[in-house]
Amino acid sequence: MTMQRVGVIGAGTMGNGIAHVFARSGFNVVLCDVEQRFLDRGLDSIGQNLEREVAKGKIAASDKEAALRRISPVLDRSKLADCELIVEAATEKFEIKAEIFRDLDRLTNPDVILASNTSSISITKIAALTKRPDKVIGMHFFNPVPVMKLVEVIRGLATSQVTYETVRDLAVKLEKTPVEVNDAPGFVSNRVLMPLLNEAMYAVMEGVATAQTVDEVFKLGMAHPMGPLTLADFIGLDVCLDIMRVLQDGLGDPKYRPCPLLIKMVDAGWLGRKSGRGFYTY
Ligand code: 3HC
Repeated sequence: MTMQRVGVIGAGTMGNGIAHVFARSGFNVVLCDVEQRFLDRGLDSIGQNLEREVAKGKIAASDKEAALRRISPVLDRSKLADCELIVEAATEKFEIKAEIFRDLDRLTNPDVILASNTSSISITKIAALTKRPDKVIGMHFFNPVPVMKLVEVIRGLATSQVTYETVRDLAVKLEKTPVEVNDAPGFVSNRVLMPLLNEAMYAVMEGVATAQTVDEVFKLGMAHPMGPLTLADFIGLDVCLDIMRVLQDGLGDPKYRPCPLLIKMVDAGWLGRKSGRGFYTY
């Protein structure tokens, strides 16, 4: 039987992007968040981002309307009970995810795959909170989800081959390219990306060059679409700091020490694009 109904927890940037791509690919999506205003904002973003695709001729206006109709926003998590797979994209804090996975384990049929979009929390540790660790997996999307082709599929220690293959095939149905990665701090993407961004911050802190110059080096010299500091602002400096701390704690090597300037900026509430100020002002 082919999968038709998926749940997405969290209507923030990643969650609404994930709901967008599932709905665009014909899945019915139950989108769950804790407050109506988060759901409203998430649906607004999906509408606007689908509209961009209509404007670019990637989809028809009728596809946009059909995709929006396939998304059911809910506040009550028990409405996810009849979903065939759930992707969690809630706040990146272990305690929050732990509560959600325990609850989903209780609410859903034991066959349902529970995936997390975590950017760095251990899938093995999340899986161990449930009675179905073989059906827990990482499905790590990239921002902006409707545009970025990659899905990092992360196998926890107990994740079964069937679960892995189901999620890998699902990513292909979403017109994404899945890559297989084993559970380790930061997986591959953030293990390699975050130290790059962190080092760029050290270069700015030490006065080697301005943020603009560092970004220009990467845009013009290495053909990156965004320089590392623009990208850090785009991801969120608080998210970058959390991931550096996961790398530092999990791997123990001093090379993962978060840049003091990053810590200071997060303390100041300069979180990047979302707060209006980071390495740049918005
Ligand atoms: N939804 C749908 N389409 C979108 C979109 C969205 N949210 N955002 C942008 N687009 C589309 C645009 O319509 C445009 O379409 P076109 O190619 O048909 O013209 C295309 O994407 C490019 O957008 P723009 O022309 O507006 O702007 P840019 O050319 O500057 O591209 C960008 C914007 C795609 C964000 C590009 O700058 C980029 O690729 N940046 C790097 C992003 C990146 O590295 N993301 C990963 C972050 S790490 C992460 O998410 C993991 C986490 O764990 C930290």
